[in-house]
Amino acid sequence: MCGIVGFTGKRQAAPVLLDGLSKLEYRGYDSAGLAIRDGTDPVQIVKAKGRLKVLEEKTDGGHALSGTCGIGHTRWATHGEPSEQNAHPHCSDDGNVVGVHNGIIENYAQLKEHLMKRGYEFCSETDTEVIPNLIAHYYFADKGPAEERFLRATQRACKRLEGSYAIEVLCSETPDQMIVVRKSSPLVIGIGYKENYIASDIPAILSYTKDFYLLNDQEYAVITRENITFYDEQLHPFEKKYQRIDWDATAAEKNGYPDFMLKEMYEQPSTVRETIGTRVTAGAPTQVDGLDFTAAQLQNLHQIYIIGCGTAMHAGLAAKPMFEHLTHIPTQVDVASEFRYRDPLVDDRTLCIFISQSGETADTIAALRLAKAAGAATLAVSNVIGSSITREADYTVYTHAGPEIAVASTKAYTAQVVLLAVLAIHFAELLGLGAGVAADLKADLLELPSLIEETLKCAPQVKAFADKIHRETDVFFIGRGSDYTTSLEASLKLKEISYIHSEAYPSGELKHGPIALIEKGTTVIGTITDPALVDKSVSNLKEVITRGAKVLVVTNRDVRASDIDTLIRVPETHPLLAPAVSILPYQLLSYYIAKQNGLDVD
Ligand code: M6R
Repeated sequence: MCGIVGFTGKRQAAPVLLDGLSKLEYRGYDSAGLAIRDGTDPVQIVKAKGRLKVLEEKTDGGHALSGTCGIGHTRWATHGEPSEQNAHPHCSDDGNVVGVHNGIIENYAQLKEHLMKRGYEFCSETDTEVIPNLIAHYYFADKGPAEERFLRATQRACKRLEGSYAIEVLCSETPDQMIVVRKSSPLVIGIGYKENYIASDIPAILSYTKDFYLLNDQEYAVITRENITFYDEQLHPFEKKYQRIDWDATAAEKNGYPDFMLKEMYEQPSTVRETIGTRVTAGAPTQVDGLDFTAAQLQNLHQIYIIGCGTAMHAGLAAKPMFEHLTHIPTQVDVASEFRYRDPLVDDRTLCIFISQSGETADTIAALRLAKAAGAATLAVSNVIGSSITREADYTVYTHAGPEIAVASTKAYTAQVVLLAVLAIHFAELLGLGAGVAADLKADLLELPSLIEETLKCAPQVKAFADKIHRETDVFFIGRGSDYTTSLEASLKLKEISYIHSEAYPSGELKHGPIALIEKGTTVIGTITDPALVDKSVSNLKEVITRGAKVLVVTNRDVRASDIDTLIRVPETHPLLAPAVSILPYQLLSYYIAKQNGLDVD
């Protein structure tokens, strides 16, 4: 995934940009580049294939490039191989406009052809190179002050672009000025004292500022060291409120851990504690900031939908029984990329809850828009203050997990499950339902941080099992009820981080086909936490053990079956909250297998 940074101020830009790009390295990239302005001198562009270190060496840590305004980029090749030529920044044919871009320009081939017919020459295979050329084309066809022409030209170019973009551009005739615009690709502007910053992700510039403007789709910002001016799609200026993001800059550092993933897994006792915060107190009604639902509103609902992608959707699956059990409102869970394309039956008596750690996942945003258009009430559950889904939903509640840098979602998942539990309890209290269950759940929620801390102590046992199975090519996860949800999430983690094929099945489904794949030595991993389903689950384990499977069991019950290879005991909690505990050994398992196999987990 590409990364963007920008800076304009009084100090040298290149070292700041390199530092910002280094904070985005975890996102993966194959080349990097900088464009630096020094007053009216021509822009200096330096690019390098490979690690950021190469760019740092080429520019002597940035000191070889003099100038106080600049842009930087880390590229993940989509159009054209990783190479210096294809790396950003890209420059217009005449050298006047320089830009970086995240996203995909779907109609770039037509635009390129159009420009080539008018004599423009291209030197890369990227979709991005059409952007500075289009802007230059409109810029020189226009009249008036350079600043106004540059903005108009950028807007005219963007009107021609189909696809997604976060764009940052410089023009030779407007020194110390940068223009940014976005559509379906994140971009934030950091506010400093007589200096301003741009980034595709908050952690890139978190060590410089905590005050951010969050751009909406099709909004333009013209940025100098002293000013930031916002324009809407029609270029009408408007005022924007900034947001203070209270993340500690060190939260975006590894703080002595070898990887962000490990650090984030071990942060879970405190992130869960933060997410519960003051929302839950034993013996008092739950308080949920950002939600002013009335009992009448909830009584009017005939269904709840929970929508998200990947791990966020799995948090929805973990929450479905909580909502149904506590509120008696039928609750469905859907994958955002399915929901958005299938004309779902939602109406003004539906509450749609959208879960997204980043708040910027395109399918989730599109699903939210669809639900809103159908008249549903929309509630965003996100970790990033001011992110797109939080700006578009009717209501927002935040997980307080701090920045999640590793690609594997770990602390965000447990925070989402916990926050959804808080919501389900809150709704039940408003509806006057399930007082006993809600009180039990609240007591168990308050204990959860220490149970998570306790559970993480299973790491050596997990590591020993990882050592045994790290060369496997297929792993099966089985479970019933919410243990099936845990199996789905465990399987996703293993695929994503360890690159091992795995499947998750509801235990009772094994006999309907997949059991044919279980043979001597196949790894089968079973989760058993629901007291009502222990016997059933154990008998499924016996089926695979009989076929010679190598079995790991994660459980909080007294599971008795011979020939279990490894049994990991996790602390007991309320069955509805069990997914927030039972997932931890699996997060660790995917981590240790990946490390054993020499993979970069972040
Ligand atoms: O930022 P989001 O929560 O919307 O992201 C959704 C998924 O892409 C994400 O949870 C993904 O599945 C994780 N990287 C899995 O670990």
